[in-house]
Amino acid sequence: MEKPENSTIVIFGASGDLTKRKLMPALFDLYVRGELADDFAVLGTSRSAFTDDSFREKMNSDLDQFYQKNKISKRQKREFLQHIYYQTADLTQKSEFVALKEKLLQVDAQAKTRGNFIFYLSTSPSLFAVIAENLGEIGLAKPDDENGWRRIVLEKPFGFDLQSARELNRKLQKIFLEDQIYRIDHYLGKETVQNILAFRFANGIFEPLWNRNYIHHVEVTAAESIGVEKRGKYYEKSGALRDMVQNHLLQVVATIAMEPPIKFDATDVRNEKVKVFHALRPMGEKEVEKYVIRGQYLASIIKGEAISGYREEENVDPNSRTETFVAMKFFIDNWRWGDVPFYIRTGKRLPDRVSEVVIHFKKTPHFLFQSQRSHENGDNFLIIRIQPDEGIVLRFGMKVPGAGFKIKTVDMDFHYSDLGGDTKLPDAYERLLLDCMLGDATLYARADAVDACWEFIMPILRAWQKNPDIKLFGYPSGTWGPEETRKLIEGPHVDWHYPCANLSQDTGHCEL
Ligand code: BG6
Repeated sequence: MEKPENSTIVIFGASGDLTKRKLMPALFDLYVRGELADDFAVLGTSRSAFTDDSFREKMNSDLDQFYQKNKISKRQKREFLQHIYYQTADLTQKSEFVALKEKLLQVDAQAKTRGNFIFYLSTSPSLFAVIAENLGEIGLAKPDDENGWRRIVLEKPFGFDLQSARELNRKLQKIFLEDQIYRIDHYLGKETVQNILAFRFANGIFEPLWNRNYIHHVEVTAAESIGVEKRGKYYEKSGALRDMVQNHLLQVVATIAMEPPIKFDATDVRNEKVKVFHALRPMGEKEVEKYVIRGQYLASIIKGEAISGYREEENVDPNSRTETFVAMKFFIDNWRWGDVPFYIRTGKRLPDRVSEVVIHFKKTPHFLFQSQRSHENGDNFLIIRIQPDEGIVLRFGMKVPGAGFKIKTVDMDFHYSDLGGDTKLPDAYERLLLDCMLGDATLYARADAVDACWEFIMPILRAWQKNPDIKLFGYPSGTWGPEETRKLIEGPHVDWHYPCANLSQDTGHCEL
């Protein structure tokens, strides 16, 4: 394994949730596995008042709570915490960046990080441009030279719509070069999403089938059982389309649909992905009602527990029209995918937390055999389970032993957990942080891709905004979203794949 060069990561918004839940556990795990540079430092900054010591104390107890992978060795944790520093700063004030720079240079000298800095923006998106501008003004944004490199990492959401995303890109690119900018989409860091690339391009057997001649349709699902929790304020302005579809789901679609890149590097992989985004068939505003279903979760009782509806959640307007569920159908207009429908859906308060891709292959042209259920005849599909129970399933028909030729579908099922031993899937943030330290942006979103995804999403946002008559369907918490979602998938005996163990035969919903 290549080790990254020494560097300091400056985390803006370090007292927030992401730092304690994701960034610190990821850094600690990389440290424990010996994958960080020998000399590295983390400088946290935010408005909250901490000293180096009190911030280390906080990280100490946060790690106890949020680092769940292995048993923590007290010695390793103590050593790791010595690499952490803190500077209080109001990030809207230019003057405070001067003190921040002074502290950074001190940390850099002490930790011998050779002027290599990563600026990780885990703040409100409204601060992204201001922080970048201030970094530019105090001379911390210059491109690589012999005195070190500078990279900036931005959390999502990247823009609120096409115009604001372009504006943000324009501002950032005035200060940083594109190859210094790392736009995080944590789905790309998931081991199983990366495995789609390996599965497709490291095996000769699937790629010949991976096209309109053999594939009937493709489904991508990202379901969550939780509601909006404490994020009502953010979610009200975002909704599922901006929060999940514009970024995570479309990135997964591109990973499934892209052509093989010439080389496995940031330029070639991302060039192929952006071609998929450009090939998404634009949706006219008038078609939105037909191809996009939006829903909002309603109060319900799950396992005897009363669950609030979205409109009863904290910081949510009691008349809110924000969607917590989206399902849509679209096409990718190119030679590989012409006329193959892609169906994607995502939602909160669905029966399970599960993300998966299902590739449905075309049926045989002529059925020779009887099957237990006639519509199962020749039903072949491949499921790529992104999370949880990560793995791959291939479904095909098999003769039932005995007289006659009865066919039954069976599954060939690979679970990552079967690899056994020490094979634990790293968290997406571990992979992404390490890649950024190594200067590899392959798994980060490029400006043109973000732009193209917004372009595809805009007609939907505009149609919803202009036409309040487009229905927002309520769905009881704990179900698979509005019933209307089923109508999106056309064809006899074709329905969504419901990835749930306790599926009720009557309702098609999960029995809770
Ligand atoms: C985030 C969204 O980007 O992804 C959240 O803002 C969502 O609303 C989360 O819950 C889902 O991520 P994961 O990794 O749990 O599927």
